[in-house]
Amino acid sequence: MDFSLYLLIFLSLLSQCTAQWCYQSQYSCDDTCRDPSRWAAQFPSCGGLRQSPINIVTSKVHVNTALPPFDFIGHTNRINITVENKGHSAHFALPQSVRLTGGALPGHYRAAQFHFHWGGNGRPGSEHTIDGERFPMELHIVHIKEPYGSLAEAEHDMAGIALLAFLFEETTDDHPHLDTVIAALGQVQNNGSATVISNFRLSDIIPAAKDLHSYYRYVGSMTTPGCEQAVAWTVFHKTISISSQQLDAIAQKCRFWTGQPMTDIFRPTQPLDGRIVYRSEASSALTSAIQLWFVVFSVVLGTTGLIH
Ligand SMILES: *[C@@H]1O[C@H](CO)[C@@H](O)[C@H](O)[C@H]1NC(C)=O
Ligand SMILES: *[C@@H]1O[C@H](CO)[C@@H](O)[C@H](O)[C@H]1NC(C)=O
Ligand SMILES: [Zn+2]
Repeated sequence: MDFSLYLLIFLSLLSQCTAQWCYQSQYSCDDTCRDPSRWAAQFPSCGGLRQSPINIVTSKVHVNTALPPFDFIGHTNRINITVENKGHSAHFALPQSVRLTGGALPGHYRAAQFHFHWGGNGRPGSEHTIDGERFPMELHIVHIKEPYGSLAEAEHDMAGIALLAFLFEETTDDHPHLDTVIAALGQVQNNGSATVISNFRLSDIIPAAKDLHSYYRYVGSMTTPGCEQAVAWTVFHKTISISSQQLDAIAQKCRFWTGQPMTDIFRPTQPLDGRIVYRSEASSALTSAIQLWFVVFSVVLGTTGLIH
């Protein structure tokens, strides 16, 4: 082999090692970036047996009475948050005063950031699907278990990270508080650019705590490389409303690190591989309706002397 061949091999190895991960929407055949099907080549956890997101099959979830509501701490505080285009999505950094406990999580968790997964041009872009249905958008609030200070410290603990997922539902009316989020995204068009939203309140975006008793729970991973398998996932039943105009606006604001429009930023659903998805008991209005009906029925039967 002559020198130039060595050089060629060396360079191709080098480009393989430094290949960036990307979403399917960024990938083209002549690209050197790794699409989701090839993340595992560089990030072994992405090929693990507890990966996220998943499709939740509602007929197969196990009702679990030991899944209580959450205690949200600091969610109604007015805070200044930094929004940054991270190249694959935009992160909204949260201060440590925003915390979480309850929900059968082992301890207190500090909020780190939130971000959205979206589609584009009318295409839905949630990561989790329910009975095969993809929702227009998904909000993830990332929490790290105390006393860990970073994802790297938390990743060796199966419940080191608590991720809250909210699915969006398209409505005719605008969500009254999403316009500040959309405006901020317009300020962070390119990778690395950042802006601040002042006087932001998380409780303006997410549903009221009383509407969050119903949720799905399973153990999984981060949905971007390194796909750390350290996540207690909570997918809430209650959706957040957003208008089609707001959805279109969101998907048009940012660009990927490659310069292409940042659209369809979701990982395909991953196999369950034997995991069980639990549902907090409150998530079934049907169950309580049946229980109520049973009580009424028993009373009626009891008074007519049919049962004793
Ligand atoms: C947020 O920033 C404003 C200035 O833009 C400042 O007056 C205010 O004190 C800050 N609030 C917090 C909670 O840091
Ligand atoms: C995005 O920009 C940051 C600097 O702000 C850089 O470190 C990072 O490598 C860039 N990301 C990609 C995927 O190019
Ligand atoms: Zn996410």
